Amino acid sequence: MSASFDFSGKTVLVTGGSSGIGLSIAQGFRDAGAQVTITGTRDGIGDYPDDLSSFTYHQVNMLDVPAVEALADGVEQLDVLVNNAGTTFRGQAALEPENFEATIEINLNSVYRLSHHLQPLLKASGGSIINIASMTSYFGSPRGPGYGASKSAILQMTMSLAALWAKDGVRVNAIAPGWISTKLTAPIQDMSEIADPILQRTPMGRWGEPGEMIGTALFLASANAAGFITGVTIPVDGGYCTL
Ligand SMILES: NC(=O)c1ccc[n+]([C@@H]2O[C@H](COP(=O)([O-])OP(=O)(O)OC[C@H]3O[C@@H](n4cnc5c(N)ncnc54)[C@H](OP(=O)(O)O)[C@@H]3O)[C@@H](O)[C@H]2O)c1
Repeated sequence: MSASFDFSGKTVLVTGGSSGIGLSIAQGFRDAGAQVTITGTRDGIGDYPDDLSSFTYHQVNMLDVPAVEALADGVEQLDVLVNNAGTTFRGQAALEPENFEATIEINLNSVYRLSHHLQPLLKASGGSIINIASMTSYFGSPRGPGYGASKSAILQMTMSLAALWAKDGVRVNAIAPGWISTKLTAPIQDMSEIADPILQRTPMGRWGEPGEMIGTALFLASANAAGFITGVTIPVDGGYCTL
């Protein structure tokens, strides 16, 4: 059995589409026919190891509120907004209040800001939003309280905006990836004291790949396949949530 989705003629914005999960989701929508715009923090696409030439690229740091608003102002048409950009601080830095605040700004506040500004375009197109949550949406995040707080709030906000905007025909859903091999997790993949318990708790016994998020993203964005689905967060986690 195969499943395919056609996004020909559709316009998609993937924040943080320059690498990892965001890049895979951007490639998935591109391969399904969409025009895809991505964002990243670097000057241009030549500053990234992957070939990003099939995308429209904007440099946006989510800590820069005017830049986030300028990004939204520049969008003229939109069918799918993927709020994927995110980061974390590590070690002692993760516990500093200013970094807690920065994490909330990047991972949560910018998601609301973009969603708020772009909602009228999504209302006009009958489009949808896909947020990127996390296992830390459900479980404590002792090494990154700001990250956990931001991702838990993403799950909550997904439900709130889904309820708020259902009357406008805008669906709002989220994906909660398990532990995925990207540059965000690269620093911990070789730290056995962190990586071993993760793998022991993941019934499928391995790290996920960014490309394994594509199917869920296309499904949630499809008005045909998921037209009566809003407010949900779908774990794509190799079973991590089951234990
Ligand atoms: N990997 C996992 O195990 C995992 C699990 C659950 C959830 N997530 C979430 O998935 C999303 C993507 O993460 P990833 O694992 O794919 O990591 P990644 O490869 O590091 O990608 C993160 C993306 O966010 C962008 N970004 C980082 N800081 C930013 C900032 N201050 N302003 C604007 N953009 C910023 C990055 O831009 P640059 O490329 O320019 O740095 C990149 O495009 C994040 O929301 C993350 O929290 C990841």
